[in-house]
Amino acid sequence: MSTEPAKPVRRITVPQIAARKGGEPIVSLTSYHAHTAAIVDRHADFILVGDSLGMVMHGMESTVGVSIELMIMHGRAVVRGTRRALVVVDMPFGSYEESPGVAFRNAARVMKETQCGAVKLEGGARMAETIRFLTERGIPVMAHIGLTPQSSHVMGGFKTQGREEDSWPAHEADARAVAEAGAFALVLEGMVEPLAARITRQVPIPTIGIGASAECDGQILVLEDMLGLNPKPPKFVKVYGQLGEMIGQAVEDYAKEVKARSFPGEGQVYR
Ligand code: KIV
Repeated sequence: MSTEPAKPVRRITVPQIAARKGGEPIVSLTSYHAHTAAIVDRHADFILVGDSLGMVMHGMESTVGVSIELMIMHGRAVVRGTRRALVVVDMPFGSYEESPGVAFRNAARVMKETQCGAVKLEGGARMAETIRFLTERGIPVMAHIGLTPQSSHVMGGFKTQGREEDSWPAHEADARAVAEAGAFALVLEGMVEPLAARITRQVPIPTIGIGASAECDGQILVLEDMLGLNPKPPKFVKVYGQLGEMIGQAVEDYAKEVKARSFPGEGQVYR
């Protein structure tokens, strides 16, 4: 048994993230389970347990089918696997839109049961009252505007936002509304660069871009996308590692060796 005392958990805090507005860019990735989260934890300022896990981990067609229980299960794993980064857990579709009271009950449950440091929810001005209600009651909220996947059925798919300049004022009003309501950071997803730049200049909280350009105060990507595990990643993803190919090769080698009876070999057998 190890006599080493466990290292204290000293996480990056919500105010520390908020204070990075206009400063050193904020690094973030998604993570859904303990092993990958432990690796991401060494480099990320915050880790998002995104509801994209419905598509990435569970093969769903959209994030709409994700339940609060699923978010809690993966949120717990990520918190357990990490010690340094702030962990933010997504509120799934249907768990917060109905009223500020319902949102509080569900967000408090997510925070209690996962021990995460903040929640994220989608929506601009229409969610401002809820964001205010949560933050005034001790729940830090990261907002998310632009392409909001939970509304993909209303939007008619996953469409880049702000292609027409006359749509910009509505997005800018959304950004200002969530910042005024108390959100500590704002995800801008799938939006043209000039709009992301205008919003970043207009709000006093850090903007976190995903498909929204380097004009934002920080960046986030879905881990599996940047690791090459998604055969059709969106245009805005840069693939930093070819894990899909590596896993394919490793599985092929294993299958060959099992068939040739060369695995298990000397080193893998108890004599
Ligand atoms: O669910 C998710 O992974 C997200 C990111 C795309 C920001 O919300």
